[in-house]
Amino acid sequence: MTLLYEGKAKQLFTTENENELRLQYKNDATAFNGVKHDIVEGKGRLNNEISALFFPLLEEAGIPTHFIKRLSETEQLVTPTTIIPLEVVVRNIAAGSLAKRLGWEEGIELQRSIVEFYYKDDALGDPLVTEEHIALLEAATVEQLEEMKRLALLTNKTLLSICESANLLLVDFKLEFGMTKDCELILADEVSPDTCRFWDRDTLQKLDKDLYRFELGSLTAGYETILERIGGVVHG
Ligand code: C5P
Repeated sequence: MTLLYEGKAKQLFTTENENELRLQYKNDATAFNGVKHDIVEGKGRLNNEISALFFPLLEEAGIPTHFIKRLSETEQLVTPTTIIPLEVVVRNIAAGSLAKRLGWEEGIELQRSIVEFYYKDDALGDPLVTEEHIALLEAATVEQLEEMKRLALLTNKTLLSICESANLLLVDFKLEFGMTKDCELILADEVSPDTCRFWDRDTLQKLDKDLYRFELGSLTAGYETILERIGGVVHG
């Protein structure tokens, strides 16, 4: 089958059915726009399994997603989309680039959840963009922006509730949306500790990709904790 697209952490292949693509999660760990890169054994499987648990729960909450089913330890079947070139970030607690931008300490709870848009462009370093920049770039229409905001906040509400039951804090996360051939806007990409910041509720221990970004501990140990707490089975 043909390789359609290769990203930093995933590959997308065609299948015999034009309405289905095979998404392969890789073991590559990258950070700082690809400057830091390593192979982490088991990462692809963990992200595949975690995403495959989150997507159906998001669907149940009324969020249309590209997820069809999990195929194997590292593969999912997904609906083809044309990706909107925006990263949609939702934040509940100050961390990462928001803490840096505002000069805030990490861990400050935001008065309300916020949504930000970043323009997907590696050469520009994925800059934060305003709605007016997005209009100039023709990256999305006003209607698409409104729908992405609505779905991002609904995703936040759903993930916050899952995290509460799992004794996790959902600090922030990044989503990507795509348009299907029927012009429906759906959630695409992945929902995993590569794209979400999860902290332990009691100890505030980081259990996500910050472990790798800042060399704070074992990435797979953190991801296994997430998988276990949301009801998955950790093998090997
Ligand atoms: O780095 P920053 O604080 O802006 O990241 C916000 C959230 O978006 C984090 O959960 C991070 O993991 C995620 N993110 C991502 N891919 C990027 C940038 C950020 O998944 N390219």
